[in-house]
Amino acid sequence: MKNTHLLGGLTPDQFLRRYWQKKPLLVRNAIPDMQALLAREDLFSLAAREDVESRLITNFRRQWKMQQGPLNALPLTTRKNWTLLVQGVNLHDDQADQLLHQFRFIPDCRLDDLMISYATHGGGVGAHVDSYDVFLLQAHGQRRWRIGAQQDLRLREDLPLKILRHFVPEQEFILNPGDMLYLPPQYAHEGVAVGECMTYSIGFRAPTWQELGEAFLAFMADSIELPGRYSDPTLRSTRHPGAIGDQMMDAVNRTLQKLASTGADREIFLGEYLSEPKPSVSFDPHPNPLGVRQFAKAAARLGIRLHRKTRMLHRHKYMFMNGESYLPGTSDRSVLRRLADDRVLDASHLARASADLSESLYRWYLDGWLDLQTTKSFQKS
Ligand code: SIN
Ligand code: CO
Repeated sequence: MKNTHLLGGLTPDQFLRRYWQKKPLLVRNAIPDMQALLAREDLFSLAAREDVESRLITNFRRQWKMQQGPLNALPLTTRKNWTLLVQGVNLHDDQADQLLHQFRFIPDCRLDDLMISYATHGGGVGAHVDSYDVFLLQAHGQRRWRIGAQQDLRLREDLPLKILRHFVPEQEFILNPGDMLYLPPQYAHEGVAVGECMTYSIGFRAPTWQELGEAFLAFMADSIELPGRYSDPTLRSTRHPGAIGDQMMDAVNRTLQKLASTGADREIFLGEYLSEPKPSVSFDPHPNPLGVRQFAKAAARLGIRLHRKTRMLHRHKYMFMNGESYLPGTSDRSVLRRLADDRVLDASHLARASADLSESLYRWYLDGWLDLQTTKSFQKS
């Protein structure tokens, strides 16, 4: 983390120990000379796309309304009290992706996305709580935040948004461009635009145990192998034909015990689960790919980098990319771990890749999961 202002002079560890998942932190001038990375028109164009998640929230004549994207028509920017939220901007813009990378002192498997909100004067989403931690970075104009540690999280009824019934703000701040507010999960907050403004939310993810459990059982269902079928050549006649007998129950117990997962199953499951891109994400196969030899030569000269949409993780001997798991040879492990951590590999590191790994890299290149370091093809999509 190069920017020492980002956490107001705290080291990442100090921040994590004192604030993360515990209490809010306001950082003035977290990003010095902050300027919006996208003009409002760029954001409006993203909101019109099918593959981008967006929402329009209006509070006209004291009535909350919400419309899901794609949004082809937006209210006039001269009209007060509306806001546009665009999720996952980091997937579509390199600079937004780079901004998110300033928060990689927190592992990628916890980092979710960069959401950008645009609001006209008075615009906001009402007082609410979120399930996840968030850094709210002011990018353009001003926003007034009011926050409170209330326990009463009951919501107003009959609204298209989750708005707290009784919001009790305890602190209030006006954020200017470059200022940032960290909030832990379930902390009540309300941000209202003071004039036209844009706010960037650096969002996190954490699966509920229920979601994780269901996904794990689906994973195990895909991988179990139980050959054979129940049989009972020693069956005796019964006087209780409605009963399930011990003989069958015991056989089922013995068989189902074989379904217990191993540590390796759980590691592979977790890596595949956490590296799975969101359902809206799709990769474009490379439009003019080099041949396999040309690619190897170019990579040896230029190095490679992951596409910003690629999720790559590692755990012990396993590697995970975009929902798939790999068990690379020992000599390739350090190369792949470096690629996952740095998201780029310089030519010198590629020199150590085995033939197997070079083949995988070429396949990932064809699929658009990675590219040569200098190509511009990733910049806008
Ligand atoms: C916003 O940027 O308006 C909403 C962000 C939030 O409150 O989580
Ligand atoms: Co919020």
